[in-house]
Amino acid sequence: MNKFSRIGFILAAAGSAVGLGNIWKFPYITGEFGGGAFVLVYLLCILLIGLSVFIAESFIGQYAESNVSSAFVKTSSKKNPLWKYAGFMVFSGLIILAFYSVVLGWILHYVVSSFSSLPSEASIAGASFAALTKDINTQIFYHTLISVTVIYIVLKGIKEGIEKVNLILMPLLALILFGLLLYALSLDSFSKAMGFMFVPDFSKINADALLAALGQAFFTLSLGIGTILTYSAALPKGSNFIKSSLYVAIIDTSIALISGLIIFTFLFEAGAPSAAGPGLVFISLPVIFSSWGILGQVIAISFFMALVFAGITSAVSMIEPALMFFIERFKMTRRSATVLCGAIFYILGIIALLSMSDEYGSLLSFSGKNAFDWMDFITSSVMMPLAAILTCVFLGYFVDKKLLQTSFEKHTSVLVFNIWYMLVKYLVPLAITILLINKLGLIS
Ligand code: TRP
Repeated sequence: MNKFSRIGFILAAAGSAVGLGNIWKFPYITGEFGGGAFVLVYLLCILLIGLSVFIAESFIGQYAESNVSSAFVKTSSKKNPLWKYAGFMVFSGLIILAFYSVVLGWILHYVVSSFSSLPSEASIAGASFAALTKDINTQIFYHTLISVTVIYIVLKGIKEGIEKVNLILMPLLALILFGLLLYALSLDSFSKAMGFMFVPDFSKINADALLAALGQAFFTLSLGIGTILTYSAALPKGSNFIKSSLYVAIIDTSIALISGLIIFTFLFEAGAPSAAGPGLVFISLPVIFSSWGILGQVIAISFFMALVFAGITSAVSMIEPALMFFIERFKMTRRSATVLCGAIFYILGIIALLSMSDEYGSLLSFSGKNAFDWMDFITSSVMMPLAAILTCVFLGYFVDKKLLQTSFEKHTSVLVFNIWYMLVKYLVPLAITILLINKLGLIS
């Protein structure tokens, strides 16, 4: 059986968690919601909600040692076959991977173009980013490169592919971020960035900020598509899944905070606005790097490489739940399942990128959203929250409590178990239901 080593599991799960969500999205939403207070709320969401669902997925995976669909059936107290439909969540992975691969392609393009030159003004940077998102050929080229890399890695399997890649890329990522952090520390604005991120101003917190923090906590911990469940199924029997969940959450959170500190130091040093939105990494940062000459170019290349490394280890984790599902349910070989899943996400990715172009934009847009935004919306706002609610309701109401108790008490105290159980049974489903309703626009 294809299993991780224990450290391999922690690295791979951390590799999945640490991605564009940490280095790109977390800093820009922190900027938009004004810093410190948002960070505090986010940390609470990770601790109370994200970590609970992470432990929930990890428990099911380790207990059942199978793909998402069979794992739910096996773990349910009555072995009710209807639970197999929980397997729907693995398809979110393929949909996310489609546009994630397109975005990773943009970043790879930024690595390459940082070697020649960087834009010297925000207007130029903005225009070239906008041009890239409409340039069909360049995007197909990079999307193909990323897709082939991801497919190649997962073809090799859990131990030889995923574990090995994480063993190389995660330390490299840590090294680059450490170097960037040292540089940020040498700049005057570092203390300002610290103040921005860690001194809370609660007047900036509203319902939108709470929901954004909750959504981000889910996305960054790779919850709601069965990644953590599927990886945990490959965890050696008897491993302490609670401790490893905690490690992964700590690594993921540290990297988000460090990325934020680096990026805000750079922004403040250049006097650039902190609320630049999604363009922060693609527009604001390149202009700042450009003003630092050759050193800036080196920093730009390292920074975008770090993003690519972080993204690749996340990308391989998005396809694995679907692979396991096809392999076990339809008795496919790993090779044919990979080809099938690879083809699905690759084609969806092409549709996503075409939907942003002038040529095909109107053809591939429905109700005011293009296909790219739809894929993001359907997964992050509908399928993933639904899957998380389902997972919690499942454990809270359809799994024998004794089974949970004995599994948890091997690794933790009764108190920790009781807190986790209460959270999963009541608070988390409620919080995510509110998030879901809100995202669907039923309340506003
Ligand atoms: N956590 C990754 C990030 O922050 C993205 C990711 C990887 C993901 N696998 C996932 C998100 C599974 C949701 C579900 O970029």
